[in-house]
Amino acid sequence: MQQATYRDQAELSEALAQLHALPPLVTSWEIHVLKKQIAEATQGQRFILQGGECAEHFDECSAEIIANRLKVLLQMSLVLIFGIRTRVVRIGRFAGQHAKPRSAGTETRNGVTLPSYRGDIVNGAAFTPEAREPDPRRMLRAHAHSAMTLNLVRALTNTGFADLHHPEYWNLDFIHRTPLEKEYRQILESIRETVAFIETVSGNPLHSLERTQFFTSHEALHLLYEEAFTRSVPHNEGIFNLATHFPWIGARTSDYEGAHIEYARGLVNPIGVKVGPFMAPEDLVRIVRILNPENDPGRLVLIHRLGAGCIADLLPPLIRVVQATGTPVLWMSDPMHGNTELTDTGIKTRRFENILDELEQAFDIHAAEGSHLGGVHFELAGEDVTECTGGASGLEDTDLVRAYKSQVDPRLNYEQALEMAFLIVRKKNRMENKSAQ
Ligand code: PEP
Ligand code: CO
Repeated sequence: MQQATYRDQAELSEALAQLHALPPLVTSWEIHVLKKQIAEATQGQRFILQGGECAEHFDECSAEIIANRLKVLLQMSLVLIFGIRTRVVRIGRFAGQHAKPRSAGTETRNGVTLPSYRGDIVNGAAFTPEAREPDPRRMLRAHAHSAMTLNLVRALTNTGFADLHHPEYWNLDFIHRTPLEKEYRQILESIRETVAFIETVSGNPLHSLERTQFFTSHEALHLLYEEAFTRSVPHNEGIFNLATHFPWIGARTSDYEGAHIEYARGLVNPIGVKVGPFMAPEDLVRIVRILNPENDPGRLVLIHRLGAGCIADLLPPLIRVVQATGTPVLWMSDPMHGNTELTDTGIKTRRFENILDELEQAFDIHAAEGSHLGGVHFELAGEDVTECTGGASGLEDTDLVRAYKSQVDPRLNYEQALEMAFLIVRKKNRMENKSAQ
């Protein structure tokens, strides 16, 4: 499902041969580290923050965009670590998020029908026959742009930029404009004091604070591309997808008899599966059995995206059937994809209050079912975009035109994303206080 149709098979073979020969983006060692951390999150010892673009675009592979996205994720993780006193696993939707599933194979405008845009790895977004023709050489560009992105992410997080002694380096220029600035600065001040205190008492600088860990993820949609980086390595057993640490399967390709589940079955990587409103509980059980037959903790992440209006009905039976299998899974909430709507003027948006509503319900439903929500999944931008309404600055429908940049799904902007982190802390602490009473 959802694969590109390439016209020139010789060109396709040539591109694939080149991809198969290129170095991978991540290592098997890193994949094992992430798997262990997901297993710990399943037990409540860590919390997972997954976030980034709906789709990366080649012409947005700039230092500023990459660094700003990293800053938001770092800031959110800091708010979470500080607020819920749990280690946070940071997973970016970046360095490979170039393929998009579409609800229709073609798009018609003014009587002209062309192939749908399937993400920069396949074709161009412009509505012309040339742009929309799938081009296999785009896979090489996707690999190159992923490598460039990851190179900067690795460099920034390994050195001064991500140093917890200087969290002010992660500030974005427009933090001054947000009502959350004061609360965020208080956290920074507390961290500074705590770090200084520990270093004084112990007499040693805390070198471990100088770097942070980031993992990558993307939707493993384009199977020819994924296959090119599906490899075995000398010192770790098994087959790895080395194009990303954490491939996930989207809601449109999660058929238990489909190619994507069959592909993921053979990997050592942790696998995410999006669970949408049309997933039947018995099919989810099949997926759990297929993808995690050995009950490996850290192997399977179920990312539900059911919508604020449906989650109360749909989630409890899904949790129950998975519990009955006895297989450990990490449950994650994607409160974005079930809450997309059109404004009166036809703009695709998501409302902050609905996103938050689904997320808060997710926490409560898991708790009520004796389960546990171990992570969150957001589409967000480090830019001051206006794509989702609501949040502390009260963005309205009429504000959306101001800075709407997404060619696919509407993302939380920097301020809405940071606010979401504060509200997760509030929700989790309320739940903790309630259960302590
Ligand atoms: C996405 O995560 O961008 C996406 C397409 O999600 P889903 O498969 O849940 O619709
Ligand atoms: Co999306």
